Amino acid sequence: MRFRELPLSSLEGRNYSHQRLLADRARCEAYRKAILDTVKAGDVVVDLGTGSGLLAFFAVEAGAKKVYAIELGPVIRYAERIAKRNSMDDRIEFIRGVSYDIELPELADVIVGENLGSLGIEENMLPMYQDAAKRFLKPGGKMIPSRLEVSATLVSDTGFHRRYIDPWKSSLYGIYFDTFLHEQLKTLFLAHFDSSRVVSAPQLFLSAKLDAKQTYSEINRKTLRFEIDRDTTLSGFIVYFTAELSEGVSISNGLVGGKNSWDQVYFSIDRVLSLEVGYNVTIHLCTWETRYEFVPSWRITVSDSQGKEIYDYSATRYPLLSLPPDLIGPIVPPAVDSGNRWVAYVLSLLNGNRGKRQLATILSKLDPSLSTDEIEHTLSRAFFFLNTHASIPSMAKPVLPLRDRADFLIQAHFDGTLNCKRIAEIVHFEFPDFLTPEQALERIQYVVTTNVKPTVGV
Ligand SMILES: C[S@@+](CC[C@H](N)C(=O)[O-])C[C@H]1O[C@@H](n2cnc3c(N)ncnc32)[C@H](O)[C@@H]1O
Repeated sequence: MRFRELPLSSLEGRNYSHQRLLADRARCEAYRKAILDTVKAGDVVVDLGTGSGLLAFFAVEAGAKKVYAIELGPVIRYAERIAKRNSMDDRIEFIRGVSYDIELPELADVIVGENLGSLGIEENMLPMYQDAAKRFLKPGGKMIPSRLEVSATLVSDTGFHRRYIDPWKSSLYGIYFDTFLHEQLKTLFLAHFDSSRVVSAPQLFLSAKLDAKQTYSEINRKTLRFEIDRDTTLSGFIVYFTAELSEGVSISNGLVGGKNSWDQVYFSIDRVLSLEVGYNVTIHLCTWETRYEFVPSWRITVSDSQGKEIYDYSATRYPLLSLPPDLIGPIVPPAVDSGNRWVAYVLSLLNGNRGKRQLATILSKLDPSLSTDEIEHTLSRAFFFLNTHASIPSMAKPVLPLRDRADFLIQAHFDGTLNCKRIAEIVHFEFPDFLTPEQALERIQYVVTTNVKPTVGV
């Protein structure tokens, strides 16, 4: 089987091959059918990420009186010319920009778009569609796709290990390069598995209706449990999507149906494991997405039929670090409510020289609107946290390890407005000898991906 690396690095940097997208007949015909079924004569349509203009052209074919075709990339210039060439330019308005920043003069009957990654969600379809449904869609309007499901299943592929994993385990020229192995395992691979390599029934990781009421979450986290019902081997798991475009029309890169533009995403473990009937495999999968970023992190544990854990492996992929600085800028971590932020801030101040009175003075200077009661409440929550979670030598002037203080300072700045780069600068400013701005950025990533709901835990 052929594997290639999944280029998750950045939305802007993604090199869409519109030629390849247009050549995928299964994809294009499914969209065409769904658009012809859904768009009625005289409808207003929004095409989110028009690319070559394909879906806007189908909407015109369906009778739309007006299509707003939004696209962030330079390909929009070609789409405009293609519209002229096919005499459709009188009904399509091409708008260059990121959909979140665009305002439209009227609401639409239908929103259409194809921003499906191999995992379904890594091209930020969920936030993009939620935003568009809220701001561009008439009440009762339709979305294409209307639903997205992401599934995972266990697989066995010994050939992958022979080719990509095992070579790192032995010496080359008498030197061990196995340090690269873990890096290799953080890579997600694209491949097309058929059901012959699957060793479990699939489990649903996510199921989202793509409408204005969609309860979109930047962080999706789920534990999936698989019971092994035959003796087999395990090399990893795959994740794939199914998108419902309209009633009876869907596209998927799953195990059934023909191959289309999307391969499945393969998450490998570090060795091939033998599994017996009665074993249990658990996958904890967590994905964090923002306007520009997608960070998956995963853990696999295996227990035998007596319930004894025999394997535990976890990895996180940090595409953020490979992003250009101007893209790191706009990333805003998930917001933490202000009460928890103040508690986190107090904890970040615990350097062993500050007692309760000094902490209260700092808080009241920082935010003069805080009442004496609020300050007292914040301090007692911080001290309660210390009592229950940390072993502090002196409660009068407690001291926390630098790393914990830096983590709390990071959390204290998750207010939904500051981006990662700015928070990294602040953390570096406070702890200049402990973290460089680059290390602070890494630490922010860590805090966000490991503390799924960043709170101080009180
Ligand atoms: C997979 S292509 C699909 C193109 C075309 N709709 C089709 O089906 O062939 C996705 C397009 O959406 C654009 N895009 C992604 N996110 C966007 C956003 N938030 N605003 C505007 N365009 C976006 C990308 O630049 C890309 O051209």
